Amino acid sequence: MNGNKQAAGVYSVPKQWAERAFIDAQRYEAMYAASIANPEEFWGEHGKRIHWIKPYSTVKNTSFESGKVSIRWFEDGTTNVSYNCIDRHLTERGDKFAIISVGDDPKDDARITYRELYAHVMKWANVLRSQGIGKGDKVTVYLPMIPELTYAMLACTRIGAIHSTLSTNCPPKVLASCIADAASTVVVTADSGTRGGRKLELKVKLDAALDKLPEVVTSVIVVKHTGAPVSMLKGRDHYYDELAETVPDQCPPEEMKAEDPLFVLYTSGSTGKPKGVVHTTGGYLVYTAMTHQYVFDYRDGDIHWCTAEISWITGHSYTVYGPLANGATTLIFEGTPTYPSMSRYWDIIDKHKVSLFYTAPAAIRSLMGSGEDAVKSNSLASLRLLGSVGEPIDPKTWEWYHRVVGGGRCPIVDTWFQTETGGILMTPLPGATELKPGSVGTPFFGVRPELVDAAGNVLDGVANGNLVIADSWPGQMRTLYRDHERFEQEYFSIYPDKYFTGDGARRDAGGHYSITGRIDDVINVSGHRIGTAEVESALVAHASVSEAAVVGYPHEIKGQGIYAYVTLIDGEAASDELRKELVSWVRKEIGPIFTIDKVQFAQGLPKTTSGKIIRRILRKIAEDKCTEFGDTSTLSNPAVVDHLIDNRLNRK
Ligand code: WT7
Repeated sequence: MNGNKQAAGVYSVPKQWAERAFIDAQRYEAMYAASIANPEEFWGEHGKRIHWIKPYSTVKNTSFESGKVSIRWFEDGTTNVSYNCIDRHLTERGDKFAIISVGDDPKDDARITYRELYAHVMKWANVLRSQGIGKGDKVTVYLPMIPELTYAMLACTRIGAIHSTLSTNCPPKVLASCIADAASTVVVTADSGTRGGRKLELKVKLDAALDKLPEVVTSVIVVKHTGAPVSMLKGRDHYYDELAETVPDQCPPEEMKAEDPLFVLYTSGSTGKPKGVVHTTGGYLVYTAMTHQYVFDYRDGDIHWCTAEISWITGHSYTVYGPLANGATTLIFEGTPTYPSMSRYWDIIDKHKVSLFYTAPAAIRSLMGSGEDAVKSNSLASLRLLGSVGEPIDPKTWEWYHRVVGGGRCPIVDTWFQTETGGILMTPLPGATELKPGSVGTPFFGVRPELVDAAGNVLDGVANGNLVIADSWPGQMRTLYRDHERFEQEYFSIYPDKYFTGDGARRDAGGHYSITGRIDDVINVSGHRIGTAEVESALVAHASVSEAAVVGYPHEIKGQGIYAYVTLIDGEAASDELRKELVSWVRKEIGPIFTIDKVQFAQGLPKTTSGKIIRRILRKIAEDKCTEFGDTSTLSNPAVVDHLIDNRLNRK
């Protein structure tokens, strides 16, 4: 892309990209218009990109009407996800690598062909069956980033079981609540893992979780990964290898309805309780496969590396299901970007000839800090496209990613999506969209974004507003697990008959969008979603804490940092020791991604006359913008605010 930087900070589409693109600018316009004018016809056609056992005759049956939200795609079709991700490729690509697995230790690599993947997944499916799992049953998967994680997920899809994959970061308490919510009878884990040279005590943490749930889980399947000895409860815990010896090799795929649930994924919301986002079979696979091909310009021969943990939606959709449905080679990495050195990502790209690289701004920012030399010891010549996801990418980071990592020749696709959306909803398309740092481009086919003001009025043209989506797309979540009412309430009632994203956005004159950040009580730390209510509940669970309010503030590396205001119970004194204790308490309760950056002890919290905390004021104090409170006429306790300002922790 050298030399085609246009106006300040805008990069036009290089000719060679436009010429060979799946989608050029003209084609985008035409296809997008067609997808909106007639979604049935559009998706009826593109739905055929996956294999159906029984083809669908209806395409779209969806309603966003408040109180009656119902989302069904391809509903009379039947298919099987593992068949699509494996069996379908065997004749032409049986010997192609499906997975390149890179261990925490740079010496540990493995390559798994599609034929090997096929054998592993059938074994795994039979092992799950031997533990009583069948269609519609729930399996919790708690594994490090190793091939077995994908085997276990695909094995679930082979027999129609629903997986719930939990991050290795999950502490016992969260594990227990997610296992209980999903009512999983079987949990898959490993003895332990290693990440950044440090040990992950998976089995130990799982045991602590299961102590709280003696009745729910009947079987724990343990992968011997590090070989570390772990305690095994007789009758409940089994090593995978031992079970595998006792089951057959072959396992035909189960015929699944398009709307049968595929997985549940727990994520933070605006209340203290994590919510189980439910995705289903047919629409999800069509949507992730199609976005993976067009957004990343995926072609046979590409090595695709998405660095996200598989237990998050980005990993589900763009490490596992999208790439494998397209017969791609997908790389999974057990470690961290900084171990054993700051050049680890770049070493992996050169060693494995990665061509499509997809990561989060926080990772780029932290690597940027170690300078260009750490990058330049590698050639990175195999790269042809870069992706960014999870949080807004600031122009400085974008430019660095483009120039230093991409050598100025790789387009960057800044992709916007959510756990709830299943796949990418807004993005530049390489070959079609000119690139502007910080812009997530235009909507993908079939996606109808709108900006609305607080009253729900639709804003036209250049505008800044709340981002809603006006109609359904096949990859959309269908419900919250066992809580359709909360699903309706959180997503479809704020702006009736529209899906509310929780994000704010801006649209420029060319119809390109930029995400301005969350407008609900969620903050985004390094691309991880932090429900402030979850942090608050964890804080008030501590014996010394009376009240807590948590907000985000701008943070140089993490995008946003976590700022907590805490009032103590009578007789408890504020101290640095207590501050440290509260930080580690919250990490232990809900996990290390919830590491509080600042704890300010407060006499009280600013409240309205009706007792509601005024978060706007707390946000401004955390940002050190104490003159920008806006309307404070409902504030019942002004003296409290003065005290908060005097003791604020961020000062420029
Ligand atoms: C929230 C979703 C699916 C990505 C992983 C996080 C923010 C996501 C972008 C982007 C600006 C972004 C939004 C969104 N976000 N991608 N390219 N630019 N913000 O998934 O945990 O469900 O969080 O991440 O605020 O709502 P998630």
